[in-house]
Amino acid sequence: MEIADTIAQVRTAIRERRQAGLRVGLVPTMGFLHNGHVALIRESTTSCDVTVVSIFVNPTQFGPNEDLSTYPRDLGRDERTCIDAGVNILFLPTAAEIYPEEFQTFIEPGRLAEPLCGAVRPGHFRGVATVVAKLLNIVQPDAAFFGQKDYQQVAVVRRMVRDLDMPVEIVTVPTVREADGLAMSSRNAYLSVSQRERATCISRGLLAAQAAFRGGEHDASKLVAIAGAEMVDIDSLQYLELRDAETLEPVIGSVTRSAVLLAAAFIGSTRLIDNVIL
Ligand code: PAF
Repeated sequence: MEIADTIAQVRTAIRERRQAGLRVGLVPTMGFLHNGHVALIRESTTSCDVTVVSIFVNPTQFGPNEDLSTYPRDLGRDERTCIDAGVNILFLPTAAEIYPEEFQTFIEPGRLAEPLCGAVRPGHFRGVATVVAKLLNIVQPDAAFFGQKDYQQVAVVRRMVRDLDMPVEIVTVPTVREADGLAMSSRNAYLSVSQRERATCISRGLLAAQAAFRGGEHDASKLVAIAGAEMVDIDSLQYLELRDAETLEPVIGSVTRSAVLLAAAFIGSTRLIDNVIL
């Protein structure tokens, strides 16, 4: 595995491979890799000849009172995970490499970025869209891989790629869950043993609603109520909403098109998100 710290290095590492006609996959991450990331890498190594993983804790997607400074990091372990998973190039830029002095151009996502996480994390998707656009421009992959856990993020990225005519395929990879259902997330590392146990009620609620939907319950408010009834062990709920899977508009009444049930909740001071597609 080659390690590139600069944009010039990663471009040089990719150039020869692209000239040889190889298909390049990019897995953008913020590190502290877990099996959810490994699933993204597997998807890339399966469908691409060259897999590039980026690890960059992107400051522009964190709000002033969020966890940028405490975001979990373990570069040594991440490097070993990437080697074991068959990554070809690991891109580890510094903040100064991505956002040099005088940097002043941002991507402003539209309606898809307004509700849900966009409403409670102002500027978050502006930061995500900007860094993803930069990573796509730097690596110029044929395909880029994102986890379904960050459902709204993938929707915003897909829209950006379409709106700005970026020649890349965006692949969504299903959420990987722990044995007890908890969606894998780097932020799970913040949870104490008892918080970790309590956190399982989020996926329990979402999966209960999904099972009810599959069993014939199509009333949106009843499905939300079924999920909410399980989420008794959280400390606070930011949102639990049933939205159109494509437009992210609220679903009112009966579910007649593909929909997604999304939740964001706090366990202690840790904010967790999860979703299921109905
Ligand atoms: O999902 C993440 O880890 C980040 O939001 C991403 C896509 C790497 C952009 O910083």
